[in-house]
This record gives sequence, C-alpha cells and structure tokens, in this order.
Amino acid sequence: MRSIYTQAVHAGEEPDPATGAFPTPIFQAAAYRFSSAEEAAQIVAGEKEGYVYTRWSNPTVAALERKIAALEGGEAALASASGMAAISSILLTLASPGDHIIASDSLYGGTYRLLSQDLPALGIEVTVVDATEPVNIERAMSERTVALFLETPGNPTLRLADIALAAEIGHRQGVPTLVDNTFATPYCQRPLALGADFVIHSATKYLGGHGDATAGLVMGSEETIERARGTIRRDFGGILNPFDAWLVLRGVRTLPLRMERHCTNALKVARFLEGHPKVVRVFYPGLPSHPQYQLAKKQMTDFGGMVAFEVAGGLGAGRQLMDSVRLCTLAANLGDVRTLITHPASMTHTQLTPEERLAQGITEGLIRLSVGIEEPEDIIEDLKRALDTIQP
Ligand SMILES: Cc1ncc(COP(=O)(O)O)c(C=O)c1O
Repeated sequence: MRSIYTQAVHAGEEPDPATGAFPTPIFQAAAYRFSSAEEAAQIVAGEKEGYVYTRWSNPTVAALERKIAALEGGEAALASASGMAAISSILLTLASPGDHIIASDSLYGGTYRLLSQDLPALGIEVTVVDATEPVNIERAMSERTVALFLETPGNPTLRLADIALAAEIGHRQGVPTLVDNTFATPYCQRPLALGADFVIHSATKYLGGHGDATAGLVMGSEETIERARGTIRRDFGGILNPFDAWLVLRGVRTLPLRMERHCTNALKVARFLEGHPKVVRVFYPGLPSHPQYQLAKKQMTDFGGMVAFEVAGGLGAGRQLMDSVRLCTLAANLGDVRTLITHPASMTHTQLTPEERLAQGITEGLIRLSVGIEEPEDIIEDLKRALDTIQP
C-alpha cells in the first residue's frame, strides 16, 4: 500500500479527459446527455459505464468515493449527504424488519437516537452494549443479528472497543462489524485492516477538515456498497451534493498533515489539562491514564485530536470555562482546523436522557475539545486563562 500522504493527494483522481483540469472539477449537473436512445437504455440498465442522474451518481462524488475507499483500504465507498445519512444507508441495507443489530453504547447522540428509536420503530431490534468488554458483544449475539456497530474512539468519552476482537466475534456468527472511524480517521486507525467489514465517516469532521462541508461515507465490500448505491441511497435520495464532495476532496488532500498536527497538539493539551489543579479528569487515548491505553497503542497508530475533561465544580464551572475562552470556539462540531469546545450534555448528546448519558459516562460537567492545528501554546494559554477565571 502506498503511504497515506501520497494516497491523500493522488488516489481516486484523474485529470478531466475533456479539459485536462487535474483537481477534480465540480460537476454541478443534475443529469447527463445520452448520445442515443440505445446508449441511454444501456447506461440505465448498467450494461455500459456512464452517468444518468446525480441522485444515482455524480463524477465529483465518485472521485471522493474512490479516494476514501483507497485511504481506508475498502473495495468500494458510498458517499452520502451527511454522516447520519451514511450510517442509515448502510444499516438499512444490512437490516430488515425482524433483524437485530448490536451497537456499542459509546456513540454520537444522533447515532444513538437512530439506533435506539428510529430503527426499532421500523421493526429492527437493537441491543446497546458496553463494548469495552467484548464478552458483552458475545452475549448479545442472536440468530437474528445482522450487524455489529462500533464507534471507537466513542464520542465524547473517548472509550474504545477492541476492533479485531469484536470482528472475530462477529465473524464466528457471520455478522459484519461496522466501525465509525470519524474520531480517528485512517491516519490513526484503519478498521478494515483490523478485521472490520465496513468503516464509516462523518466527513463533516476531519476528512473535510475545515468546518464548511456536511458529508458522510461508508466503505466496505463492493457487493454490499453497490447494493446500497442502487437501492437505499438512490430510493431514499441521500446522495452527497457535488459541491460538498468537492470541498471534502480538497480537504482530504491535506488530511495526514492536519492529523499529524491535531495529534501532537491534542497530546500537549491533554497533558496540560491533566496537570491543572482545576481539572479532575482527562480522557485521551494517548495518555497512560486512559483505562484502555494499551488497546489504543495496539489498534491506533496515533491518538487523534479529541480530548474530553471534567473541571472541578461540574456544570457551573464548565459553563464559566466555555464562556471565558477566546481562541477556542464554542460550537457543536469537531475535526475543524480551529479548536472547538463543546458541552456534550447540552449540545451534541441531547437526544439521550440524563440517565442514558450517565450510563455512557457523559456527566453534566464533561467538556469536549476538538484540538485544532493552531500553535499549541496559544491553545493552552487560552484554556489556562479561562480555567483561572473559574470561581468556586
Ligand atoms: C462520531 C460521529 N459519527 C457520526 C456523526 C454524524 O455526522 P453528521 O453530523 O455529518 O451527520 C457525528 C456527528 O457529530 C459524529 O461525531
């Protein structure tokens, strides 16, 4: 396999044959002209390569799909209008009413609601387990299980699941494992190489990287991805639009460079927070204090840009901190070049009840930091100054 630095720049893209433009153009077209009625019939029937209608597929979107498939080592990729559209597309492709899905309990709030409410309403049963203990996955398996869904590191607690072990448990029963790799990106973790069957991204985050695009992708076997492309994505209409595909393509070319910096900055920030007297707990997979540090070292090549922490004084103190930062931006997103600060209990995980949040380790005082690529000392100085303002 080529280096991820080379793949990020070159994979999936060819100069435009008509003009020679080598950054993939934005093909802002809803439909494509056929040269004859016969050609139309052949392309529509899939007997000849070609484009029909952008809800089915689009050249800019297809270039992004090829690039991310290469980065994740997947046979094929499907791009959707958002991370949630990617997750729902693949789960609805794999599961039908009467089927059963197992999911880890450390999940983005939207994913949690999809799994705990929307899919059950369609007759798909979901069991949510603490996947930090693989035995819980094994126990939840039934003859009706058709998918095992993991998010690792999980949002926002940075809990991990052992991908290789989980995939092995799944494979024993013929059940595919899906991993949401949004936090880690292929720079830090390659789930397919670890044994998973599908890997998912909210490309709104690190893949796009600049906080300006909304997109999602799922990579896996050509057979299933093509089925999803021809049915759920086409019929539910959740394809990514060409402009956002272009923005993500542009972002991905610098993904490894940005991730290098996100990772080194996050480790510095995590170490600073761990040493601060007003911080009671820090969650970062790259800190030896993380309960799954050994697993992080086993399955990740670096530890990502996401850090979570609790300040002494709980929610009140956390609010003072969030209101006092100047460089960090208070926003419900992550994976941006800017450092973003988020309060999961009131911003990203409101779909959960307070009890469900607590079961996942999301306390009222938990703060999530998406550490950006700025000068690390500037980020630390901003946090230090804001922490100093907290009144007991
Ligand atoms: C880990 C993870 N997966 C999926 C999503 C959903 O992605 P999107 O907002 O692009 O639909 C998010 C959003 O925050 C996320 O953090």
